[in-house]
Amino acid sequence: MPDPSALSPATLAGHYDGAAQAGGESLMVRLAAAFRAAGHDPEHLGLDEIAGIDQLHLGGRRASRHLAALGRLVPGERVLDVGCGTGGASRLLAQEFGCEALGVDITAAFIEVAEWLSRATGLAESSRFLCADAARTPLAEATFDAVWCQHALMNMPDVAAVLAEWRRLLKPGGRVLLHEVVSGDNPEPIALPVPWASDPAASHLCSRAAFEARLAAAGFVSESLEDVTATALAWRQKHSRREAAEELPAAPALPGPALIFGERFAAMGRNLRDNLAADKVRILAGCWRLA
Ligand SMILES: C[S@@+](CC[C@H](N)C(=O)[O-])C[C@H]1O[C@@H](n2cnc3c(N)ncnc32)[C@H](O)[C@@H]1O
Repeated sequence: MPDPSALSPATLAGHYDGAAQAGGESLMVRLAAAFRAAGHDPEHLGLDEIAGIDQLHLGGRRASRHLAALGRLVPGERVLDVGCGTGGASRLLAQEFGCEALGVDITAAFIEVAEWLSRATGLAESSRFLCADAARTPLAEATFDAVWCQHALMNMPDVAAVLAEWRRLLKPGGRVLLHEVVSGDNPEPIALPVPWASDPAASHLCSRAAFEARLAAAGFVSESLEDVTATALAWRQKHSRREAAEELPAAPALPGPALIFGERFAAMGRNLRDNLAADKVRILAGCWRLA
């Protein structure tokens, strides 16, 4: 049974936007100030400059490019980026693949940042954003060529409702491109906090078998599915080593995920690394087609 309390946007805002929820400045104001402090005009930014804050998944832009290749995205396609966070994948799909992206996220602070970053990078026309619950969007049916979702389904308690919404929104023969976290064979509880949850109520991991079964039950046929855990673990290990060795830089560094997640971020990264290494979680990437 879905846990109704976990459906509340406030629950997720407390996790993803904790500093502002506790009475601090908004995420956008804090990030813009950090860009200024690092000598960058927050209204004119490049995709390389913002990569530290707009790729909230394992593997960064390389993993997104791999997923786009799995899904054979082509210019002009309309893509719905579900649980888009600060919008990095939407911008990458717009700039590098010529897609028309719409990012949807339930966390209002992320949508505000996503819209600002698309304006600042000159991609506001081709990457747009909407604050909504992925399970019930106000969008018209049969209007997307593909649904894209990276590291977000494990935040959603009612995946069946989300998949039904994707069926409604996809054009006939549309694809679903997923880069997601599932549980591994180790039944012990995962170490928390991780980047998607601080407490177990916000983490809705299922096994790979259950993940595949849910997609099949919703009418999606698998075209490709890869277990990319080893690559994700190597990437996370490299970043955890860097984070542990961090020295005070000579000049203010570009904003990174710690500005979003706060001091908890180092522990989140280490826990995710350890959960991957202990086979408590695995990472899948694949493409499905609407039957
Ligand atoms: C770990 S972040 C990943 C963000 C982005 N996909 C990325 O890879 O950079 C998970 C995102 O899912 C969003 N999310 C969780 N539940 C949602 C829901 N029911 N509807 C829309 N977005 C949701 C969260 O607000 C968060 O931005």
